[in-house]
Amino acid sequence: MDKTIPKSDKDYSIYFQPPSLKEAKKRGKEDVSVHYEAGIADDMKTIGVGKRYLIRTYGCQMNEHDTEVMKGMLEDMGYEPTEDKLDADIILLNTCAIRENAEDKVFGELGHLKTLKQERPGLILGVCGCMSQEESVVNRIMQKHAFVDIIFGTHNIHRLPALLKEAYYGKEMVVEVWSKEGDIIENLPKKREGMKAWVNIMYGCDKFCTYCIVPYTRGKERSRRPEDVLAEIRDLARKGFQEITLLGQNVNAYGKDFTDLTYTFGDLMDDVRKIDIPRIRFTTSHPRDFDDRLIEVLAKKGNLVEHIHLPVQSGSTEVLKRMSRKYSREHYLQLVAKIKQAIPDVMLTTDIIVGFPGETDEQFEETLSLVREVRYDSAFTFIYSPRDGTPAAGMEDNVPEDVKKERLKRLNDLMTVIARERNELLRGEIVEVLVEGESKTNPDVLSGRTRTNKLVHFYGSKELSGRFVHVKVTEPQTWLLKGELVQAQPARVV
Ligand code: 5AD
Ligand code: SF4
Repeated sequence: MDKTIPKSDKDYSIYFQPPSLKEAKKRGKEDVSVHYEAGIADDMKTIGVGKRYLIRTYGCQMNEHDTEVMKGMLEDMGYEPTEDKLDADIILLNTCAIRENAEDKVFGELGHLKTLKQERPGLILGVCGCMSQEESVVNRIMQKHAFVDIIFGTHNIHRLPALLKEAYYGKEMVVEVWSKEGDIIENLPKKREGMKAWVNIMYGCDKFCTYCIVPYTRGKERSRRPEDVLAEIRDLARKGFQEITLLGQNVNAYGKDFTDLTYTFGDLMDDVRKIDIPRIRFTTSHPRDFDDRLIEVLAKKGNLVEHIHLPVQSGSTEVLKRMSRKYSREHYLQLVAKIKQAIPDVMLTTDIIVGFPGETDEQFEETLSLVREVRYDSAFTFIYSPRDGTPAAGMEDNVPEDVKKERLKRLNDLMTVIARERNELLRGEIVEVLVEGESKTNPDVLSGRTRTNKLVHFYGSKELSGRFVHVKVTEPQTWLLKGELVQAQPARVV
């Protein structure tokens, strides 16, 4: 490591342990400890007064929520938000490592920020999130982007105040990336906006799908204590939030790491169901751990919405095996059948990767046929992107680029047809919509979401924002339902 460190002989190896499959797989032996953070240290409470911050967030909802935590901490230190780079005293890039193009965007942005930093040396520039957990990225930043002030990882977010202090008073780049992943930090401040809130129920992932970087960047699976999750949701209900999304890389594994109690994701959902919040969602599921107890609880509905995001990745058992997904095509289809039987009006969405190493034309056809059979409402589709340090990166990537692109196009074309047909089924139906506000293109048109997370546009006055209304679907389109207001429900009393 130390050969790569510019301008300093500081030994970063005590802060930074590179991700390694071998090391990562050894984990799970030590206990998870939960820390109840006491808040911002006294000497940092006013350090941000008169200063502004900007956080750029890339990647998934987990990252979006981490940004809310960082905003909460920064505002507790007196910083105020800004959207303008030129106005910011701190700029943080909260990065994503899932595919190469996510990383390219961040390096592009760093290039732009270099000039800004040269003009204003007092500006603090930080890189955090999943890319910071990769050794190659940290080395590259230290070598080629030495103007960055702070690099910190996904396990170090709560250390932001201390790291900022070091950046203000020290001369060297502050690097703190732990691969230590046993801990859960509670009581961190969070800046939430709007009527929807995210709540972490667990961190990390132990599934080790062969293409995926997440088990390295986010650490081992560890569940928050049920009492902490439920208390946070009750508090959000009291504050008037209308919708909560429970977050985890693999929510179905919730509770499996508890050594002192038997309490699964199904049990958690059954308890959350009793809290007075109109809508509860969750993401993301792994088909392998999706059990009957959860299906039984979801079928009780109420505030548990009838939308399940169930990533399949491939329709070929052979490819699934090489991806180490630990289920077969048949198992996945059986699970879907069980879910549809218990919740007939369920909407299913998914993630699919095309062009995985060794994927043949026939195996890709199996993905298309699975999509036709399940009839998803929508799908996130990706071309396989090799990630350093993952097992698949060592497999022969023998699918030519143009074939990968062609497969992606065929899959997307199929999804467009199915999504349109699925929406057509809603023509004339009355759906419950949580109104989010004016649509982006026309201030007379309101935009909102159904329980199944479908986007709805209809004419109405903006006072309805934040309320539930009923809308008759008059013009279903592929990714949008146009409709007419039927009746505005009274606002919830909170
Ligand atoms: N290449 C392409 N797509 C990936 N995903 C995860 N890792 C990769 C990769 N290396 C996709 C999966 C996952 C979604 C969040 O991103 O479909 O479910
Ligand atoms: Fe989220 Fe995964 Fe991207 Fe990290 S790498 S931000 S966990 S999608």
